[in-house]
Amino acid sequence: QSVAVLGAPFSKGQKRRGVEHGPKVIRDAGLMERLSSLDYSVHDFGDLTFHHYEKDEPYMDVKFPRTVGEANKTLSGAVSRAIGAGHTLVMLGGDHSLAIGSVSGHAQQCPDLCLIWVDAHADVNTPMTSPSGNLHGQPVAFMLKELQDKMPAIPGFSWTKPFLTSRDLVYIGLRDVDPGEHQILKNLGIQYFTMRDIDRLGIQRVMEVTFDHLLARKQRPIHLSFDIDAFDPSLAPATGTPVNGGLTYREGIYITEEIHNTGLLSAMDLVEVNPVLGASHEAVEATASLAVDVIASSLGQTREGAHASIDDVP
Ligand code: ARG
Ligand code: MN
Ligand code: MN
Ligand code: MN
Repeated sequence: QSVAVLGAPFSKGQKRRGVEHGPKVIRDAGLMERLSSLDYSVHDFGDLTFHHYEKDEPYMDVKFPRTVGEANKTLSGAVSRAIGAGHTLVMLGGDHSLAIGSVSGHAQQCPDLCLIWVDAHADVNTPMTSPSGNLHGQPVAFMLKELQDKMPAIPGFSWTKPFLTSRDLVYIGLRDVDPGEHQILKNLGIQYFTMRDIDRLGIQRVMEVTFDHLLARKQRPIHLSFDIDAFDPSLAPATGTPVNGGLTYREGIYITEEIHNTGLLSAMDLVEVNPVLGASHEAVEATASLAVDVIASSLGQTREGAHASIDDVP
């Protein structure tokens, strides 16, 4: 079992600078040490470098289209190679527009993957429905086959091709959904669990229904795209678009423990940690350390503890 960690220091999917330092603060919070203490061989693939266009005029209202498009193309290739080489991939963002590259690179190797999107936001705006023009609010729209005819030809994105159907996706943690996004969720019949649903059903039932929905017909690789703003801002303050009433620590970790327990996690993103937006050093450290907990738990760190099988002892 081997894990590849790939940093994507990139922020042009939204307007606030600082989220490009996410990979560094998550590493500084002890990520590699934590993963090594699990039973993996851990490979640090370092951080990608991205080309920033000097002249990158908005297309319609979409901001930095060429820069975001090319960054995701680069990321997509790197993710595809890492997964092709047999690693479980951990992508450290960066803003959530990076999921376009990460999930598409994963899908290149695993065309039958399914996607679990843990986030306060649905990130499924099209350039027409987006209230902000920020591409971190739009990545899922690039993936869904059903939205193909709603997507204009955006400069920088000619390399993309939708690869996911609405049945292959489940959202958990939603609480800030734009009107155009709500219409898409409803029209396409996408399975989603808002914070209200978690209040009603409990996180245990939410995970049960999630796996029924995605895995009942066949076992297949899981891509987990985890936006740190899914957590309550009291736990994850250092992020660009915080929304009150988010996941508790225990709900978040329960989600990732259950995903690990499927044995099917094949790649994950941890995005939107922005150290510049923390009110204090402590706020930044708390957010980064939470990100490490989410990743470690996705990869098998348990709350109950573990010990090597007796046969493994030399
Ligand atoms: N829905 C808003 C938008 O389209 C906010 C998106 C926030 N996305 C995120 N990855 N934090 O701009
Ligand atoms: Mn979000
Ligand atoms: Mn997001
Ligand atoms: Mn394990």
